[in-house]
Amino acid sequence: MKAVPPGPRGLPILGMLPAIRRDPTGVFMSAARRFGDVAYFKIGPRRGYLITNPADVRHVLQDNARNYHKSPLYNKLRLSLGNGLLTSEDEFWLRQRRIAQPAFHRQRVAALASVMADAAQDAANQWQTLASRGQPVDVAEEMMRLTRTVVVRALLGADLGPFTDTIDEAWTILNQHIGESFWSLGFSDRFPPSKYRRFQAARAILRGAVDHVINQRRRNPSNPATDLLSMLMSARDEETGETMTDEQLRVEVTTFLLAGQETTSLALTWVWYLLSQHADAQRRLEEEIDTALNGRPPEFNDLVNLPYTRMVIDEAMRLYPPAWGFSRQALADDRLGGFRLPRGWLAFVIPFVLHRLPGYWKDPDAFNPDRFSPEQSADRPKFVYLPFGAGPRQCIGNQFALIEAHLVVATIVQRYRLRLVPGHRVEPWPLITLRPRFGMPMVIERRTHTYQ
Ligand code: HEM
Repeated sequence: MKAVPPGPRGLPILGMLPAIRRDPTGVFMSAARRFGDVAYFKIGPRRGYLITNPADVRHVLQDNARNYHKSPLYNKLRLSLGNGLLTSEDEFWLRQRRIAQPAFHRQRVAALASVMADAAQDAANQWQTLASRGQPVDVAEEMMRLTRTVVVRALLGADLGPFTDTIDEAWTILNQHIGESFWSLGFSDRFPPSKYRRFQAARAILRGAVDHVINQRRRNPSNPATDLLSMLMSARDEETGETMTDEQLRVEVTTFLLAGQETTSLALTWVWYLLSQHADAQRRLEEEIDTALNGRPPEFNDLVNLPYTRMVIDEAMRLYPPAWGFSRQALADDRLGGFRLPRGWLAFVIPFVLHRLPGYWKDPDAFNPDRFSPEQSADRPKFVYLPFGAGPRQCIGNQFALIEAHLVVATIVQRYRLRLVPGHRVEPWPLITLRPRFGMPMVIERRTHTYQ
């Protein structure tokens, strides 16, 4: 077997750490272009390979998934979220996954579509005043609020009470804090005390909100017994018969609250941005939606008649995957692309890079939803398009997110057109998720029903 593959040369001790901290997506992208399928990376004290061949990606995420844990980079996330479904491993993870899984079966999620559609309609109604004023709004914030409402209502059957107005800012602070320290890899993070205090205050708000949701249900246990929260609360350990501890329940509710809103809201935010830049796609979308719905509000059963809408969402997640990159750590030596990956080393799987590989995507930087038509997708390997990951750790909420995004796009496009504020700088910001660094201020216009 060959020795270590070539890779970008970094600094003597820090390796590629400073470069990655500055521009993670840029560094991985240029390494993939320059070194091909497997590229060696030294990042501070850690070593690993960036893998961009779909066969290797499949090997790590699926075929040999047992040999991998989530990488130590997730420790930072664990600190904020706790050891729950997203961050735990092995038997404990499997148990938590089995408890939650039934809440995400497609039929179950389909039954929640009306909650999603109503929340989208509420948001659209609220936009009416904004539209008449012509004043820009930050669509990234609007989408965050909407997707959070959906998770809270649909999965947790609750509201956030006094925390409704503070939770978004708290999560932005947490995301930024974790994102900025994500790549520190054992080097201490020196945050000024004021920043650290802000982080702790944000954590307290999140904890308060989660406790509010749980206490609300305890006081009123008669809510539908089949939603995610009741499954989490009533699940019993097969051996001991015990239910989850309060702390574990808190961790899982936090995980769903955050994992469920953040990524979906970003997928939608990037859809609005891309549509504002591509009048042709906007027009085609309007035509599809108007024809299929004929003025009615969209429902789950309409989605099959809105294929282009779904292709637009898929294409937006290709160019701007909300979960732009993740990584694994090998438990035992493995073999990737003909090279030995020693135990303890990392494998970097970066959807942002996979989704733009010129070998699999023609004109990869161009926005072209048609590449997701059945004909054009037929020959593409599955493992070059991974907005939801793959294998046993694949996103549990992928159907939920797709149905929600589909309904939201149809609801909004039926009534409005969104225009980016002229001259606004849009820059993807790869923290844990891929946010727009300067927000997404847009003007909401009521639609007049023409396609020219
Ligand atoms: C567009 C929206 C979404 C995207 C792009 C997304 C992406 C992902 C990805 C890439 C992973 C795997 C990470 C890894 O392998 O390291 C993941 C896991 C997860 N996602 Fe999502 N997600 C989305 C929506 C949701 C929703 C709506 C929920 C819940 C309501 C959710 C809950 C979770 C959970 C709990 C996990 C961990 C699953 C496990 O390890 O068993 N996600 N997501």
